[in-house]
Amino acid sequence: MNKKQLPLDERTRESVLDHINETTQPEEGKIPAYILSDPTIYKLEHEKIFLKTWVFIGHESEVPNNGDYITRDLAGYSVIVSRGEDGVIRGFYNMCTHRGMKLCRADRGKAGRFTCSYHGFTFKNNGDLIGVPLQQDIYGGELDTSKMGLHKVTIDSYKGLLFGTWSDQPQPLSDFLGDFKWYLDIVVGRAEMEVIGPPQRFVVHSNWKIGSDNFISDSYHTMVTHGSIAKLGMVPNPTYSKIGYQVQTSNGHGLNIGMPNQEFAFPEELIPEFQSNLSSEQFELMSKVKNMIGTIFPNLSFLISHTKIKGKAISNTSVRLWRPIDVDKMEVITWLLVEKHASDDWKKRSRESFILTFSPSGIFEQDDTEVFTDITAAATGPMPFMKQLTYNYTMGMHREQVRDFAGPGIVYGDKFSEANSRNFYRYWLDLLNA
Ligand code: FES
Ligand SMILES: [Fe+2]
Repeated sequence: MNKKQLPLDERTRESVLDHINETTQPEEGKIPAYILSDPTIYKLEHEKIFLKTWVFIGHESEVPNNGDYITRDLAGYSVIVSRGEDGVIRGFYNMCTHRGMKLCRADRGKAGRFTCSYHGFTFKNNGDLIGVPLQQDIYGGELDTSKMGLHKVTIDSYKGLLFGTWSDQPQPLSDFLGDFKWYLDIVVGRAEMEVIGPPQRFVVHSNWKIGSDNFISDSYHTMVTHGSIAKLGMVPNPTYSKIGYQVQTSNGHGLNIGMPNQEFAFPEELIPEFQSNLSSEQFELMSKVKNMIGTIFPNLSFLISHTKIKGKAISNTSVRLWRPIDVDKMEVITWLLVEKHASDDWKKRSRESFILTFSPSGIFEQDDTEVFTDITAAATGPMPFMKQLTYNYTMGMHREQVRDFAGPGIVYGDKFSEANSRNFYRYWLDLLNA
């Protein structure tokens, strides 16, 4: 986020909102193009969405041991996520409480304490101020260190996924995720999961919403954008990605479930663990999954995909953040997750499966980011001409809901639909107006 911008004045806010409300009609399948390129909307999103909702910051397995820490961006501001000696994971604003120096300048590490590089104040990894150079002499015993601990940032986790929020009255994380948890359990809660290595990071010249939108509902592009995978024989035919379900829940979340799969693409020796973590309905669904692709509003997407490695279907599970840097630029941060108790060989093959498909060098990733960049460039056309242009999001409006699906939410029996995007943009609009 561009931190140098001043807050919007009331008049600008009102006129921008009036225009957004006039032109954005998710239920009619009408989304204006300029929302991907207008710097004022980007600023409004920062204020009304990213500073208010839960935003993903990492996975608990990135700080597996007491004393481990990572520093992460939370809506444009640096936060230290640290596991204290008591095993509790806490979030702190990355600022020394003396005179405001950025306290921790590393991405990750292990530290029982953090010492400020300006005057040397030292903080324990639970946030307490525990050391001040020459304290007695220079403060005469008057400095109340008990009131100078690091400033806490609200964080919470669900099945290992760590989220943070700047809201002082956040909706509980569990409520924010709501019914979507039923599906998330399969993606990240089916077994104890761990991240392999540090996340991969790269910058794309794209508005952040294109990534969220692509993962939440766009299976349709697979047969064209990724048409080469059918030509290479990696999938049986170009409409492979059509068969399955599209599911949406409240708060703008949604996913696509490709099924059925003839092969079980998860480590078979972990079936007892899967069954103990999932209901029988969840396990049955997981057993038939080809892929699961979705987005937790606003900008955390996830993916279970699989490829054949040495003749065997091997799944790979990843989560990715479309972190806004500017209206036309985002950092894509991708974490590969594997079942912690799987064999080393399986983990290695899952990593290979990931590298082939959705890593920066993966075949899908390169196809997608090129499209994202070109959509953003086209959305940055001349004003006021651009303000007249809308995208067509009407796909699948004629479809009836599936009523007997095992999981919750609004379910459609075809993945080629833009219903989830309409749901995403409805919530986006509600938050901008809130
Ligand atoms: S600013 Fe950190 S010790 Fe002074
Ligand atoms: Fe794609």
